Amino acid sequence: MKNIIIVNGSPRKNFNTAKMCESFADGVKNAEAGAEIIHLYDVDFKGCRSCFACKLKNGKSYGKCAYLDGLAPILDKISAADGLVIASPIYCSDVTGVTRCFIERLTFPYFEYKEGYPSIAPKRLKTAMIYTMNVSETISNQMYPDLFNKTEFMITTVFEKPVRIFAYDTYQFSDYDKYVMETFDKNEKLKQKEHQFPLDLKKAYEAGENMVKSI
Ligand SMILES: Cc1cc2nc3c(=O)[nH]c(=O)nc-3n(C[C@H](O)[C@H](O)[C@H](O)COP(=O)(O)O)c2cc1C
Repeated sequence: MKNIIIVNGSPRKNFNTAKMCESFADGVKNAEAGAEIIHLYDVDFKGCRSCFACKLKNGKSYGKCAYLDGLAPILDKISAADGLVIASPIYCSDVTGVTRCFIERLTFPYFEYKEGYPSIAPKRLKTAMIYTMNVSETISNQMYPDLFNKTEFMITTVFEKPVRIFAYDTYQFSDYDKYVMETFDKNEKLKQKEHQFPLDLKKAYEAGENMVKSI
């Protein structure tokens, strides 16, 4: 059975990003493949430590991250998987720091310092990126195209170019009345949550089905 790993780079396990991951997983399962969601904030790990064991001539860890922390078994799982999804909220105009650390550890060992920077990943995995954010689609299109391209550069270099799935204008708090929030209208947010977010979940579901069909 084909297997898709879905990495949630949000600290929240029951909010927007996690729900998009679950919907993607449901689509994968409906297409009769396996899906596993990994919540990155549960994993005890840090970013690349620049040990260069993955680049050492004749090194036993050449092309593989040598650092044996909580991420090591997950990187092994991904190397054996058929597809990978990385989901992150936008924090301070970037993906979350934890997501960035994960992308460093995942992609850098597969990126050879040779002419043309060939990939030595065991497979050119199918990939998808899920981004969730507070801002509207219009503002995202003005502000974040470079962010998405930059985030995906190493992923595209070592695997296949990711399919992008977005949830804009997400519902940030369980109860808007409890928090200082003058920049977004809570009723508009609620409308978005009730009408648009289910459509975003549907897109994630369909992307899950399509990833399996494309393998
Ligand atoms: C620390 C922090 C920084 C954020 N920065 C941004 C930002 O720069 N742009 C944006 O659109 N949303 C920003 N947000 C909002 C989140 O991206 C948005 O609510 C997202 O959907 C949250 O995902 P979650 O519900 O899975 O936690 C920020 C949220 C937090 C907690």
